[in-house]
Amino acid sequence: MCGIVGYVGEREALPIILNSLQRIEYRGYDSCGILVQDNNEGKIHVHKSMKSIAQLKKNMSKSEYAGTLGIGHTRWATHGVPSRRNAHPHFDCDGEIAVVHNGIIENFQALKEGPLSNCRFKSDTDTEVIPHLIHQSLEKFNHQTSQKSSIKDAVRECLSHLKGSYAIIATAKGFDGLVVARKDSPLIIGVGDRENFIASDVPAVLDQTNRIIYLEEGDIAVVKKDSIYIENGDSEVKREEKIIPWTIEDAEKGGYEHFMLKEIHEEPKAIIDTLRGYLSEDGINLGVEFDAGRILMVACGTSYYAALCGKYIIEHLAKVPVQVELASEFNYSDFVLDDMMVMAITQSGETADTLMALKKAKRFGCKTVAITNVVGSTATRIADDTIYVRAGPEIGVAATKSFIVQLVTFYLLGLSRAKMPERELVERIDDLKWIPQLAQVVLDEEDVNIQKHARYLAGYENVFFVGRGVNLSIALEGALKLKEVSYIHAEGYAAGELKHGPFALLTKDTPVIAILSRDHIYEKTLVNVKEIKARGAPVIAIAETGDDEVEKYVDRVIRVPKTSAIFSPIPNTVALHLLAYWTAKARRCEIDKPRNLAKSVTVE
Ligand code: AGP
Ligand code: GLU
Repeated sequence: MCGIVGYVGEREALPIILNSLQRIEYRGYDSCGILVQDNNEGKIHVHKSMKSIAQLKKNMSKSEYAGTLGIGHTRWATHGVPSRRNAHPHFDCDGEIAVVHNGIIENFQALKEGPLSNCRFKSDTDTEVIPHLIHQSLEKFNHQTSQKSSIKDAVRECLSHLKGSYAIIATAKGFDGLVVARKDSPLIIGVGDRENFIASDVPAVLDQTNRIIYLEEGDIAVVKKDSIYIENGDSEVKREEKIIPWTIEDAEKGGYEHFMLKEIHEEPKAIIDTLRGYLSEDGINLGVEFDAGRILMVACGTSYYAALCGKYIIEHLAKVPVQVELASEFNYSDFVLDDMMVMAITQSGETADTLMALKKAKRFGCKTVAITNVVGSTATRIADDTIYVRAGPEIGVAATKSFIVQLVTFYLLGLSRAKMPERELVERIDDLKWIPQLAQVVLDEEDVNIQKHARYLAGYENVFFVGRGVNLSIALEGALKLKEVSYIHAEGYAAGELKHGPFALLTKDTPVIAILSRDHIYEKTLVNVKEIKARGAPVIAIAETGDDEVEKYVDRVIRVPKTSAIFSPIPNTVALHLLAYWTAKARRCEIDKPRNLAKSVTVE
């Protein structure tokens, strides 16, 4: 996700636009751009940069960019590496229409090869099709109606051709307003006195006004300094103006106390955004040849646990053998690399150990693929191919939504080579489309289903997590998440392994979190739970709604929605991410920036 802003009023637009961009830089920060329109002379000033907004502000402090209308963009690239040429705003061929965009235009390639095939594109972004379509619509309207049609009608016509998500701000040379629209990406209007503000998120405008209009799905608005017109479908609509009581800092976290909780609550949207563009009615297309006979995955930390889960998922769905190695071990081992595809799983795309592993695989002549959340990151420049997850910026040190969408990528990879009857494949793809809702169910019940158990868990100093099969990796991830943010010593174990030593540590003071999805090894795991209980350790089960049997054998149950076993890691993970967060909160920990940790470990 990135941040878009706009201003139209009677004050100089440049400082307002720069200030607004800086306040939502957390939404994306690989590059940025601004446009200021001098209404008197009709000149448009544009400046794009790879620098931070702070540096941009410094560089432009003496700028001659005069004008009372402006738009801005701080980018989190999804299509087209971070660069000045890919930074927004983007224009039509004549440089008359300018657009900034947050979202993903899924059918941009088809538009470029179809109705826009005669256009000259200057960037590699998906966004750039929008101003060209608006221009084309204007041409068509003007040709038909012989008077300058409203930009709004041209924008509306343009949007009818788009598939995907967007929040856009469009303007045109000589036009004294902003046309804005949203679908699946947020957009708000900040209401002022003879001036109005547009932004992706409230923090951008809160120091200027707390009078906020939240645009709704399908809204198109024309915003001028002294008027706001909103329509949806064919009719004008009125949207309530709300008074926002938040401080700026509250607003950056969307009203959540910590980025970690905000990002856990973004997990359903991250899944939707990652599925978007890879899964369509035409099937699954990850843009990478996935035909290797054997796969090696290399990663660190939470990404390593995602890879362990990915092994299980891909072997289950596609019957392709997958090996998983810790990058830090692989780099100094005599691992025999032969004809295999090597996948580097890395949220940041900058983890030193993982980058070293990628380079080692290339030296051995292996085909390499990076699976990462950051467009243009170092891993993408080393690997032969890249598959982007689309979690958006992850600010909390503890990886949450990025882990979930790494799993989504493995489901897509596994299903793209699935070895199963067509009917079963259709069912599994339907299951995949449903996982955002699974995650949302867990989130909707966090206050009654998670928080009380977290307060209980917060009183302990040693905790075990156990799981089997596809959920072993989720037990490992749950343990890492808890230890990272709550400083409780937590260990993840295969449920069947605890009796081979760790039983010695079990007492009434060592609660065990047991993942008990109703899969083919449920009974086995239940036996392990009974063995654990027999040694006096309290057990909290992560169990499916409707499984009443489990109540007899455990002390507490955290309920998750039922799904086919292979997809159970999704709701289980959301529950464990929330459990870690609320336990850390109960222990008053520094959740977003845990001691001794960094978001991206760029050293060995
Ligand atoms: C996970 O919560 C930690 N922040 C850490 O283990 C992280 O997963 C690891 O450093 C790998 O980071 P990457 O995915 O960016 O490579
Ligand atoms: N898809 C657009 C781009 O890559 C916008 C990205 C975003 O919303 O973060 O430039």
